[in-house]
Amino acid sequence: MVAPLKLGLAGLGTVGAAVVRLLAGQREALEVRCGRAIEVVAVSARSRVKQRPIDIGNMRWVADPVALATDPEIDVFIELIGGEGDPAKRAVEAALTSGKSVVTANKALLARHGVALAQLAEQQHVALNFEAAVAGGIPIVKTLREGLVGNELARIYGILNGTCNYILTRMEQEKLSFAECLKDAQRLGYAEADPSFDVDGHDTAQKLAILASLAFGTRVDPNSVYIEGISSIAPADLDAADGLGYRIKLLGVAVPTDRGIEQRVHPTMVPKDSAIAQVMGVTNAITVDADAVDAITLVGPGAGGMATASAVVSDIGDIARGVRTAPFGRPSARLVRSEKAPMQRHEGGYYIRLLAVDRPGTFATIATRLAEQQISIESIVQRHPGVRPHGGDNPASVAEPVPVILITYATTEDAVRKALAAVESDQVISGKPQVIRIEKN
Ligand SMILES: NC(=O)c1ccc[n+]([C@@H]2O[C@H](COP(=O)([O-])OP(=O)(O)OC[C@H]3O[C@@H](n4cnc5c(N)ncnc54)[C@H](OP(=O)(O)O)[C@@H]3O)[C@@H](O)[C@H]2O)c1
Repeated sequence: MVAPLKLGLAGLGTVGAAVVRLLAGQREALEVRCGRAIEVVAVSARSRVKQRPIDIGNMRWVADPVALATDPEIDVFIELIGGEGDPAKRAVEAALTSGKSVVTANKALLARHGVALAQLAEQQHVALNFEAAVAGGIPIVKTLREGLVGNELARIYGILNGTCNYILTRMEQEKLSFAECLKDAQRLGYAEADPSFDVDGHDTAQKLAILASLAFGTRVDPNSVYIEGISSIAPADLDAADGLGYRIKLLGVAVPTDRGIEQRVHPTMVPKDSAIAQVMGVTNAITVDADAVDAITLVGPGAGGMATASAVVSDIGDIARGVRTAPFGRPSARLVRSEKAPMQRHEGGYYIRLLAVDRPGTFATIATRLAEQQISIESIVQRHPGVRPHGGDNPASVAEPVPVILITYATTEDAVRKALAAVESDQVISGKPQVIRIEKN
């Protein structure tokens, strides 16, 4: 008879409460699958008196999560408090130092301190599992760390933030502005009161840094990620993308190049027939280009109590079975320093939307500036502005600028920026050009 695996669980919020519920609901099945019973013996949260949707009557209450982390009765510490600082950090360090395995859903902690925590776990010969930290219920960590261990990976990219995908989906389908969709996302609880962490791309960057480490062996470092958010995307861009056979998604992309591992987060045009383009609303998805298995895409819920609990329980199940893998899929001493990708040298196709001044010679000037930078145009769409509010047929009326959309063949970011700076200084466009990178299948 194998003794039950005893858990100490800190954090009884959305995820913590769902984990308690899932472990109780799957108790017998988990015992059969993992070969031993799994029991939550002690819990910790901020408030002892708060009403909770779960029964914790038979679990010991430990007020201090750090004390719970080293409690002699527990085998494994489950950290579901969140945040890159204390008490989550101190509690996880204390658990690992005292030789206890840790399961966490905390992307912020891992993005900031992942390598140091992995070193500590390896020194102590214990597990540090974090399936739930990236893309909630999607088992992408296990897929990269174990399922694809025999593959060389060429690229990993994905929709890692449900809030942004929800906003872009609504903008595209209902032709609404970014501000309107953000307000709705906040009303429905998909976006925080301060949405900047999500919509400016930082949440995606933290998750991407963790994925890049698993996929390419870089030291987790969100500061190495180039970041652009979605607030500049206009309905006109989504409309133009649609006409050209693309959708716009906020992607996190990690790809090895001859300049190191490029890690970037930005609005991206993806071909409409790609797997990632089909992913709508708050759903997350990740595509991995691997040499032996080819491209695979995992799609599923990136957040939510039960979906995230599913990932946490999977990590607990591994520990119950005695399965332990290096946290980032290789010894932390073998992780390589990641350099911030110099985006000027990024290569790919570009979508450019300009408001061209309606006078003879404008197009020739734009074409010359692009040619000077060896940029070839794959397609060009000129949208006539239609009704002119300043005078209709009167030839003396003010000419409205003409929206022009260009799709380039593969070029460099540096070339695009230089060409557009020249076009701006030639004063043949009105306002700032919109530039969106294209990611091919
Ligand atoms: N929610 C999701 O869909 C989701 C998805 C993926 C990953 N995650 C990650 O999962 C973790 C938990 O998220 P969540 O949504 O469950 O958060 P949450 O609902 O805000 O719950 C946080 C829990 O931590 C407790 N807590 C906060 N500060 C504490 C402190 N100083 N000492 C002790 N306990 C403290 C809270 O106690 P009280 O209940 O007493 O206030 C609460 O039970 C985070 O790392 C998050 O990034 C969440």
